[in-house]
Amino acid sequence: MLVEDNPTDALLLLEKLREVSGTDFAPTHVKRLGDAMARLAKEEFDVVILDLGLPDSRGTDTLVRLRKHFPSLPVVVLTGLDDSGMGIKVLQLGAQDYLVKGQFPTPMLGRSLQYAIERHRSGLALTAQFRTIDDERRRIARDLHDSLGQELAALSLNLGWIKRSVSTLGKVAEDALDESLALVKRCSQEIRDFSYLLYPPMLDESGLAAALEWLIKGFTARSDIQVSLDVPNDLPRWSRDVETALYRISQECLNNAFKHSGSLTAQVRIVHEPSRLYLEVSDQGRGIHMRPAVDKLPRSGSGIIGMRERMWELGGSLDIDSDERGTTVRAILPLEEKPPKRRKESRPPRRSARRRRSPGADDLAA
Ligand SMILES: Nc1ncnc2c1ncn2[C@@H]1O[C@H](COP(=O)(O)OP(=O)(O)O)[C@@H](O)[C@H]1O
Ligand SMILES: [Mg+2]
Repeated sequence: MLVEDNPTDALLLLEKLREVSGTDFAPTHVKRLGDAMARLAKEEFDVVILDLGLPDSRGTDTLVRLRKHFPSLPVVVLTGLDDSGMGIKVLQLGAQDYLVKGQFPTPMLGRSLQYAIERHRSGLALTAQFRTIDDERRRIARDLHDSLGQELAALSLNLGWIKRSVSTLGKVAEDALDESLALVKRCSQEIRDFSYLLYPPMLDESGLAAALEWLIKGFTARSDIQVSLDVPNDLPRWSRDVETALYRISQECLNNAFKHSGSLTAQVRIVHEPSRLYLEVSDQGRGIHMRPAVDKLPRSGSGIIGMRERMWELGGSLDIDSDERGTTVRAILPLEEKPPKRRKESRPPRRSARRRRSPGADDLAA
């Protein structure tokens, strides 16, 4: 689908699309964002070519609004000649690629669209993998805690009972029994820690704030980095996908601060505004080494790519600000302008179905 209001630009692009060889693009052309959304709600499209300046929407807001409703749709943005910084901005906001108007030959257009579709498919595969990994971690954590943990607890009770009942044990046997009791206690503790690290049960039971509190307490003890946590008191519950994503992103950012930044301090902050929910993790370390000035994007390992994919899947975005004074990662989710419903009591989490529509407040709230 081509979303472009300028008739000359549109004509030129449609012409080029016809010339793209080896593909059978059958473009639909609309002129307004509202028309694009209406068509997208009814039909499947492989990719959208989006002009940002439309009669009913201007600038990056056009992309944000489109992605908010159709997070799992690849978008290639058309930018003007004079906005050089725009390309990077739209990539950070989840566009697959950008093309500078009047500056791309036909083969480049074809490649860009094909890459956008392919990259998007691999992104979806990655998201599916995250889902599987998250589910698997949750299952292993529960199994460890519930089966092995329970059996160790029974073993500990039995040993305690033996110790109290048998008064004629020799010194050696008594020492062995004491040692066994201590061993069982240590094993139980380790299994509990391991299971919580895999998947903290409070994430489902009490929500993001409690899980972050627990994460930071353990992280501070293990790393010697002082971390502060700032979460609104009345933060509502969100869907399991959202809470898990924000928890995993906090975990990755703190691990990055520990592994790469050299910082002695870090801050985790959740901000809930009417139009967006965001998580911000900052450190005061050496900063991320950026690739050459051409694109100013950080060199991404799987951690940064994974965080970005998690946010894109939810219709959000990931911003990274980094210089030699430190790094701030911001994971942003746009919300509908309506306060989400509160969860009255904790109840078993519900797996939110895959949606084409993006999470509005009602969708995000569990
Ligand atoms: N907080 C940080 N401070 C300094 N450098 C960072 C920070 N976070 C990430 N980096 C840099 O960005 C790279 C990519 O990070 P990431 O994608 O998480 O991969 P990984 O942690 O596996 O190396 C890191 O190798 C590191 O060089
Ligand atoms: Mg990492």
